Amino acid sequence: MNKSPNVVFHKAAVTRPRRETLNGHRSINLWFTGLSGSGKSTIAHAVEERLHLMGCRTYVFDGDNVRHGLCSDLGFSREDRAENLRRIAEMVKLFIDAGVISLTAFISPLEKDRQRVKEIIGPEDLIEIYCNCPLEICEQRDVKGLYKKAREGKIKNYTGISAPYEAPKNPDIELFTGYQSIEECIETVIRELVRRGIIFRHGY
Ligand code: ADX
Repeated sequence: MNKSPNVVFHKAAVTRPRRETLNGHRSINLWFTGLSGSGKSTIAHAVEERLHLMGCRTYVFDGDNVRHGLCSDLGFSREDRAENLRRIAEMVKLFIDAGVISLTAFISPLEKDRQRVKEIIGPEDLIEIYCNCPLEICEQRDVKGLYKKAREGKIKNYTGISAPYEAPKNPDIELFTGYQSIEECIETVIRELVRRGIIFRHGY
């Protein structure tokens, strides 16, 4: 609900198309979803590195970072996860208007919440990337030691252990991050960006 009905939206003269022309690429959001430890942040940062070298304007939003600031008041209940993702989606929308290629790495476990994200951002401005990695591999990696704590019951509502993860049925890109190399994953994403006319390769 909007609590400020008497605020009028200011229309900027410097528009998204003008920013995109200046940048030499279009803006888009790459929405990475997958279990904790499935490689979302790793791949998002690796793709960002490649895009940066290509001269693109980029920004990565990462669950662990955002939850220290913008969303530090939120936990992992269904309601809090939904609110976490709603805020990120609104932020991404501004970045789209700013002409930036944003990369978001959030578990975003529920289909319903991902649908809402798409509605806020606009489906044409979002590429859904499913980091498909078996739970056993994520748990084996256990980079942050959180799966162990979740198994011991020390963390409640842990995705994959005591809270659900609904895999996307029809993602734009599916990366098999348990088996594919980071390089292969980067290539798959870059190829899709070129195919959609978001970026131009210029020999890379
Ligand atoms: S989301 O469900 O709201 O999309 P988000 O991506 O922001 O989650 O945060 C996930 C990160 O928070 C995980 O990578 C993990 O490090 C940490 N975390 C802490 N508690 C939990 C929990 N109960 N379930 C999942 N991740 C958790």
